[in-house]
Amino acid sequence: MSAAQAPRIAYVNGRYLPLAEATLPIMDRGFLFGDGIYEVTAVLGDRFIDNEPHLARLDRSLKAIGIRNPHTLDEWTEIQRELVKRNGLTQGIVYIEVTRGTYEREFTCPEDIAPNVVMFTQVKNILANPATEKGVAVITVNDLRWARRDIKSVALLAQVLAKFEAKRAGVAEAVMLEEGVVTEGASSTVFIVSSAGVLVTRALSTSVLPGVTRSSVMRLARETGLHVEERPFTRQEMLAAREVFYTSASSFVMPVVEVDGEKIADGRPGPITKKLRTIYLDEAQRG
Ligand code: PDD
Repeated sequence: MSAAQAPRIAYVNGRYLPLAEATLPIMDRGFLFGDGIYEVTAVLGDRFIDNEPHLARLDRSLKAIGIRNPHTLDEWTEIQRELVKRNGLTQGIVYIEVTRGTYEREFTCPEDIAPNVVMFTQVKNILANPATEKGVAVITVNDLRWARRDIKSVALLAQVLAKFEAKRAGVAEAVMLEEGVVTEGASSTVFIVSSAGVLVTRALSTSVLPGVTRSSVMRLARETGLHVEERPFTRQEMLAAREVFYTSASSFVMPVVEVDGEKIADGRPGPITKKLRTIYLDEAQRG
């Protein structure tokens, strides 16, 4: 079979299988209750971008909901590498999901059932994404999520609804608000460059996911001499900002040029956003 015809290969509980054969029982608790967690790491060539902090957050999310981590750091990395190799992936993401396991549908189950592990890759044009040239539009929506948003839970219904709203509005992302204050994007961390030229994003708490890209971008921003503040900011402050962007494993640093139909500054990606994207990608590719 030629590479073009080769089936996508997924990983399920120790086995590498063609996607169509990669299945879990319907009594999987991830399927029934959203009882599981996930991670997404970007892949560029043979590099796994910020993989260690992603795997550290995976461990932290598992601990937070009382699922034992079925693999060591080295084992996770080995499976990721093998999966990427089997799929011939050179640009995209590798997805990991761990659910509490399979059991009769009851809200609780014995604490020691075996977790289910599912992994797959997705091809994505993350490097030369044309949207980064012009910047993207976003809308704001109410944040409907639960109170432990620091856990990377697969219970993503609120985000799915927010993303559908964004899609219907023809924009790239939904920025979630709580009483007029930005929490984060439906699948990203939101930053602004304030009218005073300060880089601002929310501080970490149970209200937001501790973004891995967020942390790298903040470090790089400080290294370039930018003043960084971790504090809440309102939708109004975002609209009046010099620059707005969001970060995630699958978008890196994405310039936002329009919020709820209103232009940010001159409606073009700002210099700080462009610089941070460039230095983030330089570091990611050089390591
Ligand atoms: N989402 N906030 C939320 C709610 C997210 O879902 C994500 C990532 C982020 C950014 O985190 P990181 O920089 O570690 O990717 C912030 C992933 C990409 C997803 O769900 O596909």
